Amino acid sequence: MITYKTQAEIEKMRRAGQVLFAAMKAVKSAIRPGVTTAELDRVAESVIRSHGAIPSEKGYEGFPGSICASPDDMVVHGIPSESVVLREGQIISIDCTVLLDGYQADMARTFPVGEISPEAQALIDAAKESFGKGLAFARKGYRIGDISHAIQTSVEGHGYGVVRSLCGHGIGKEMHEDPEVPNFGKPGHGLRLREGLCIAVEPMITAGDYRVYIAEDNWAFLTRDHSLSAHYENTLAITESGEALILTMPDGFDGEDV
Ligand code: MF3
Ligand code: CO
Ligand code: CO
Repeated sequence: MITYKTQAEIEKMRRAGQVLFAAMKAVKSAIRPGVTTAELDRVAESVIRSHGAIPSEKGYEGFPGSICASPDDMVVHGIPSESVVLREGQIISIDCTVLLDGYQADMARTFPVGEISPEAQALIDAAKESFGKGLAFARKGYRIGDISHAIQTSVEGHGYGVVRSLCGHGIGKEMHEDPEVPNFGKPGHGLRLREGLCIAVEPMITAGDYRVYIAEDNWAFLTRDHSLSAHYENTLAITESGEALILTMPDGFDGEDV
């Protein structure tokens, strides 16, 4: 079921998004060679709770972390661990969801660990770029498929792969609501966008083959060919006119990122 949000509900989601932005910023500054993903998880949880909010991934279908921390060829849903020690040259995707006053915000970024290769940086940049291309169609009158197609075209134009088996999604009181927002698709297809629709748009891209498999912990998704993967996610609200409101970027898409 698709639910359209009122201005007051969108405002609550924006406040959740502000807390999430602060938590993501704190995680980013804690990333360095030698840090464990468990430590990053503690950083995020403490910032979120200090604002009276809840890290809503914790306990979600039994997920143990406050963040998903997915290095290198891990696409998403990495369980934070004391035994995952980040090393110089790796990339690390952090995905986090915050619940405040009954409403969710969802956001992901991929960060470098120390100095990384130009190839790895290009992949990270392409994930953000593709989000921006999708954002241009996150407007009243367009359809979900227009967002999906714009993302896919951008990613594949760089020669990268788009993960098919994981999607963006509606968001509100629940972390995952209808509709699905795939990162590939046909223009002119899918739900027509209208004011009050809130969605998490989240390209997950790979340097090689787009196919993924699930790890033995039954959570983590990894690229089948072990190529690097990057993730870029924000929560958006479709407005009455003009560009969508990015609820997880206080300064907007062209403003300061985390
Ligand atoms: N934040 C994720 C998303 O973008 C979901 C996390 S799965 C969880 O949809 F198990 F970690 F909660
Ligand atoms: Co997320
Ligand atoms: Co999401």
